[in-house]
Amino acid sequence: MNTTRTAEPRNDWPPLRVAKKALRRVFDLLERGAERLFTPALNPVAQLGTITFFLFWVVAVSGVYLFLFFDTGVVDAYSSVEWMSGAHWYHAGIMRSLHRYASDLMVVTMVLHLLREFSLDRYRGTRWFSWFTGVPLIWFLYVSGITGYWLVWDELAQYVAVVSAKLLDVFPVFGEPLARNFLTPEHLSDRFFSLLVFLHIAVPLILLLVMWIHIQRISRPKTNPPRLLAGLILAALVAVALWRPAVSQGPADLTKVPDEIGIDWFYLLLYPLAEDWGAWSLWVLLIGVSTILAAMPWLPPFRRAPAAEIDLPNCNGCNRCVEDCPYEAIRLVPRTDDEPFPHQAEVDADLCVSCGICMGSCPSSSPFRRQQDLKTGIDLPGQPLRQVRDEVVAASSGLHGDHRVMVLACEHGAGGGDVGNGVVTFPCVAMVPPSVIDFILSKDLADGVVVAGCSESTCYNRLGVEWTKQRFAGERDPYLRRRVPRERLTTIWASPFETGRYEAEKAAFAAGLEPSAKHKPAAGPDDARPGGDKTMEAQP
Ligand code: HEM
Ligand code: SF4
Ligand code: SF4
Repeated sequence: MNTTRTAEPRNDWPPLRVAKKALRRVFDLLERGAERLFTPALNPVAQLGTITFFLFWVVAVSGVYLFLFFDTGVVDAYSSVEWMSGAHWYHAGIMRSLHRYASDLMVVTMVLHLLREFSLDRYRGTRWFSWFTGVPLIWFLYVSGITGYWLVWDELAQYVAVVSAKLLDVFPVFGEPLARNFLTPEHLSDRFFSLLVFLHIAVPLILLLVMWIHIQRISRPKTNPPRLLAGLILAALVAVALWRPAVSQGPADLTKVPDEIGIDWFYLLLYPLAEDWGAWSLWVLLIGVSTILAAMPWLPPFRRAPAAEIDLPNCNGCNRCVEDCPYEAIRLVPRTDDEPFPHQAEVDADLCVSCGICMGSCPSSSPFRRQQDLKTGIDLPGQPLRQVRDEVVAASSGLHGDHRVMVLACEHGAGGGDVGNGVVTFPCVAMVPPSVIDFILSKDLADGVVVAGCSESTCYNRLGVEWTKQRFAGERDPYLRRRVPRERLTTIWASPFETGRYEAEKAAFAAGLEPSAKHKPAAGPDDARPGGDKTMEAQP
């Protein structure tokens, strides 16, 4: 069977749905290309936020270096920058170019990061926080860049100063027009330059603070790209700095209007519009777009799956779910019942995205447990463990022949839209405790199991692919028991656009399977690691 399926963004408003789908397609192509070029671990398209962080540090370090040689004064500013790019090009000049090009690249990676999160629909419900705090980041980054251009005090800086003054003059807070106060040869003072230097340092510091706030609701946020990737980016920036060093334009002269200036389109894209449309129109555009962006998490449709729930009698406060939750939604609190454990888990429903990863991590999540009402320490009300057990049993009844394959699929990956027999879908494959795979194979519900997740570098729930791999490798609790025959299990990491590869790998796996009706788990020690899992995993 080869069905064609594509990612179906959850947004229902048609124009947004179309935009998301198209963007997702573009990003998917980029991600696949980058995965092949760089390997999934180094894939830069999947690390845009991380790269933006790294670029911030490049800009900060090069900025501090430049500051050592920069003179704050109407005349001295220009000449000190010229000195850097001229006689001292080999250190200060290179740093200047790095400072500029890393800042430019930061705009690119930030905008791509925004578009990618949008295309993945990762801004709704409880994910609002990172999105909402991202909006001021755009403003702070732009203000940082614009004040930087102003400092050079060349013709471009003069243009930036004049247009910025026009923009700011629409607000009555400044009393007298800025253009008259500062931007005439008589008034332009060294003090004004000191103010600009202050702004150019203070605003990036606020940017850094907001960047830190931005990732506060994400557990184990990645803020550093892999070293090799960081090294490659730095090397590329140095190469561009040597090839096309950043230079100034002619010195500013407030008595003249510069004929022609080269604009930095990364930061000053909208400045020509301020002249063409007028300051008010540009403000309306900027504030309007920012407001819509900031409000997006609360625009309909409102769809919120119920948060994970703790079942206290089954929770021993082992901390695994706290460790595995990608959104900092669980914490341990003092025990409130008489069980002999010091802690119990507590879910903050406002932070939970209902990925189910916690259910997959809980030692009590075992389908083998012979309880009438199968419950686990932490369950997902929308698809509790008991239902998962029922679903795999029901899926098994649709499988026939000697190559019966059951698919445990993430709804965000290529398997998510599989309409074949024997497919059970989940919000994330890491929601499936490894004991479910043991259950399927040892109860002979299938001859083989395919765990089909998102693409390797783009896990919708951030950490699901990583945790699943570690559990299967015996590196993370709850691990996949050694008795599970590995030749009967395969993983397929594929995006919703890679259905062809998904189907081909699934078919190849099925074809290579030995019929397992007679398969019996090998007797003997079960544990993949010495000591094994002694917490509360129930025995079959
Ligand atoms: C200076 C600019 C920015 C930096 C340095 C930055 C950095 C980051 C980092 C490091 C992460 C965590 C990645 C991870 O470990 O999974 C992240 C997540 C996120 N960012 Fe940004 N970001 C920036 C701007 C923005 C903007 C402008 C938006 C959108 C308005 C945005 C939206 C998001 C969202 C929605 C997430 C969370 C994704 C999830 O729920 O998994 N970011 N960002
Ligand atoms: S379902 Fe569990 S792991 Fe996922 S966000 Fe909610 S509490 Fe965290
Ligand atoms: S993983 Fe399960 S037992 Fe451990 S703290 Fe979380 S809910 Fe409790």
